[in-house]
Amino acid sequence: MNIAVIGAGQVGGSLAQRLAEAGHEVVLAEREPGSADAACARSSRLSAAPTEDAVRGAEAVILATPYGANASVIGPLADALVGKILVDCTNPVGPGLSHGLKSERSGSEVLQALAPKAKVVKAFTIYGFENLERPEFPAANVKPAMFFCGDDAAAKARVAQLITDCGFEPLDVGGLVQALHLEHMTLLWVRMVRVNGHSPRLTWAALTG
Ligand SMILES: NC(=O)c1ccc[n+]([C@@H]2O[C@H](COP(=O)([O-])OP(=O)(O)OC[C@H]3O[C@@H](n4cnc5c(N)ncnc54)[C@H](OP(=O)(O)O)[C@@H]3O)[C@@H](O)[C@H]2O)c1
Repeated sequence: MNIAVIGAGQVGGSLAQRLAEAGHEVVLAEREPGSADAACARSSRLSAAPTEDAVRGAEAVILATPYGANASVIGPLADALVGKILVDCTNPVGPGLSHGLKSERSGSEVLQALAPKAKVVKAFTIYGFENLERPEFPAANVKPAMFFCGDDAAAKARVAQLITDCGFEPLDVGGLVQALHLEHMTLLWVRMVRVNGHSPRLTWAALTG
């Protein structure tokens, strides 16, 4: 799949590397010429292009910027995003690791309003970047689950494949209305790991009888 990644930091850089190594065509969006060079060095399969060019050439766009940048980054790209899959990796985080939108609405729903004709799927948010870099758990007999949600079934099927390609077990938790609950799940993980001292390699598994 042709994929653009906006925000090639800890999350976007890790996903870009894994997806490129899984055989996808991954282009990193440049804020300015050369700004994605360090992330590009993560894999010889990665390339970079100005943001709008990267988005227009992609079937799926992975958004991995700080939540506070979403409006300024996505607003101007709304036309370029028409009909495209927009994978929302961002989390709105407020003071004291509270929900950044006071749990009134999810960040993904706000994002959908910024790009109404994109197909927003929330994914790759429920763990820290450490597990996105390295989701392998050789001692376990199950893969870590990656919960995801969105309103477009075809878009979710494509994202489920990307999740599989990154080494996780995809778990569709429903429509975009579920994004608020995933954002709380993220806060749970962050509080457990970054505050209470659990291992950053903590992941969730989905077991069914
Ligand atoms: N860190 C985690 O463990 C984790 C896990 C899951 C989800 N998330 C979420 O993923 C998102 C990214 O987190 P991260 O840890 O990867 O952050 P990060 O390492 O700081 O990377 C953020 C990236 O976004 C770019 N960026 C910042 N402001 C921008 C703007 N206005 N326009 C375009 N690009 C901009 C940065 O570019 P520059 O380097 O040029 O500033 C950088 O490439 C956040 O929303 C976070 O909540 C984080």
